[in-house]
Amino acid sequence: MLSETIGFEQSGAERLIIARPRPFIKWAGGKRRLLEQYAPHLPSQSHFKRYLEPFLGGGALFFYLRPEKAILADLNEELINCYLMVKQHPEELIDRLKRHKVTSSYFYEMRKQEPLTLSPLERASRFIYLNKTCYNGLYRVNSSGQFNVPFGKSKSTSVCDESVIRTASITLQNAHLKVSSFEDTVSEVVAGDFVYFDPPYVPLSQTASFTNYTSPAFTDRDQDKLASIARELSRKGVLVIVSNSNTEMVHRLYRGFRIELVRCNRAINSNTLGRGAVDELLIKNF
Ligand SMILES: C[S@@+](CC[C@H](N)C(=O)[O-])C[C@H]1O[C@@H](n2cnc3c(N)ncnc32)[C@H](O)[C@@H]1O
Repeated sequence: MLSETIGFEQSGAERLIIARPRPFIKWAGGKRRLLEQYAPHLPSQSHFKRYLEPFLGGGALFFYLRPEKAILADLNEELINCYLMVKQHPEELIDRLKRHKVTSSYFYEMRKQEPLTLSPLERASRFIYLNKTCYNGLYRVNSSGQFNVPFGKSKSTSVCDESVIRTASITLQNAHLKVSSFEDTVSEVVAGDFVYFDPPYVPLSQTASFTNYTSPAFTDRDQDKLASIARELSRKGVLVIVSNSNTEMVHRLYRGFRIELVRCNRAINSNTLGRGAVDELLIKNF
């Protein structure tokens, strides 16, 4: 088991438990439960100079690795704003999160707010609140970019886990965060870097698709492009790991790479056939 604490820090007479950093949001496709299976496949810190995660989401692998230098990116502007606020203003954010109420009427009031009219701190506080209290922690927007997941929690839901936000903030201090497409993020990659790609997955079937984290959707062309980038980076001397679904298309796209099966229990999948244990792929070039 991965331990929840990583140590103690002496602070005056008090002993402060330092919680193991972990994602401060729930994210579809999050890798937190798969980390034990990933661990044997990861390079040790001495084998790379910098860590890049171009499809950041909840950032489970970043928080697990705690690299000394990192570039973290995602196309979702709301999400990256949240990371920036956690990194730069954890106490102000915690203060705002504590003021939220977990009721259906309050949830729909918050959901109705237009994020761009809010301050970056209020936007982040709204985002975390909606993530914690919406159905299954999904992030889904309609064609006009408005968050449209319904209320899904009971009164006992905790919106603010202070220690998670504080340890995430400490861990993020050496990370550069940006809103960026994966193509733009990889333009910064140099030999000696380690890049972890966790894109929206190739759907197992037409109906099992859940790739709508952002509008626009992630297409087959994007999957092709990503596989070509992974090959190009391999030639440059970059360590690459890609996660994706166990489908024929993914096996074909990554022929020649080392492909490992990873067992996972998916919680977020609209198709009940897709619930329960399915295999995913961990693809690597080393
Ligand atoms: C599978 S999730 C990442 C899960 C993450 N590794 C975790 O542990 O929570 C995929 C992420 O890719 C982002 N995304 C979708 N299309 C993108 C694109 N073209 N460029 C960059 N990020 C994109 C989504 O916003 C989403 O956060």
